[in-house]
Amino acid sequence: MEKFEFLSNIIKTRRTIRYFSDQEISKDLLIKIMDVTRWIPTGSNLQDLRFIIVYNKKILRLIKMFSPGWIGDGNSVTIVICSDLKWALERGGLYAAKEMYLIHVGIAFQTIALLAHSLGLGTNPIVSFSKEAVKTILKLPENLEPVMIVLIGYPKVVPEPTPRLPLDKIISWVE
Ligand SMILES: Cc1cc2nc3c(=O)[nH]c(=O)nc-3n(C[C@H](O)[C@H](O)[C@H](O)COP(=O)(O)O)c2cc1C
Repeated sequence: MEKFEFLSNIIKTRRTIRYFSDQEISKDLLIKIMDVTRWIPTGSNLQDLRFIIVYNKKILRLIKMFSPGWIGDGNSVTIVICSDLKWALERGGLYAAKEMYLIHVGIAFQTIALLAHSLGLGTNPIVSFSKEAVKTILKLPENLEPVMIVLIGYPKVVPEPTPRLPLDKIISWVE
């Protein structure tokens, strides 16, 4: 029960952070987070995800220009979550390369977000961005598909919790 309560608290108090303080984010913390994130499950243990961690401020500014979903500001590092679609296709087939990789990105984001929150960091997932522009800016190889940009940094503003539907609206029982 102790573990359940600890984890529930981390899950429920995580918020999307859009405004970050000036505090620098150490590479050690990011390595800590990513070293746990590599334990996420993937279909057939495909492990198709690749994470590009962008510290370079000039490149971050460029990415922001092509990301309408990036609406806040402040000092953040960006983790671009990509799937290696060639890898996914060769090892997992068409379904893996067309749909399953998106599920993997969701699992990776939530894992990163919860770990970051447990360390006092905040995250902002962004899917509204130009994939083509990000591919060009980061000089990504053809096989890497950027799916989500995750901003990560120290929160400056923590928003109020957003509402959630009640349990009886979202579950039904088959007995
Ligand atoms: C798949 C996905 C895409 C999202 N895209 C954006 C985005 O482009 N820009 C943004 O500011 N927030 C984005 N968000 C954050 C959501 O708006 C946020 O999670 C939601 O309003 C609930 O608020 P909370 O995370 O603080 O609980 C995204 C979240 C998810 C899961």
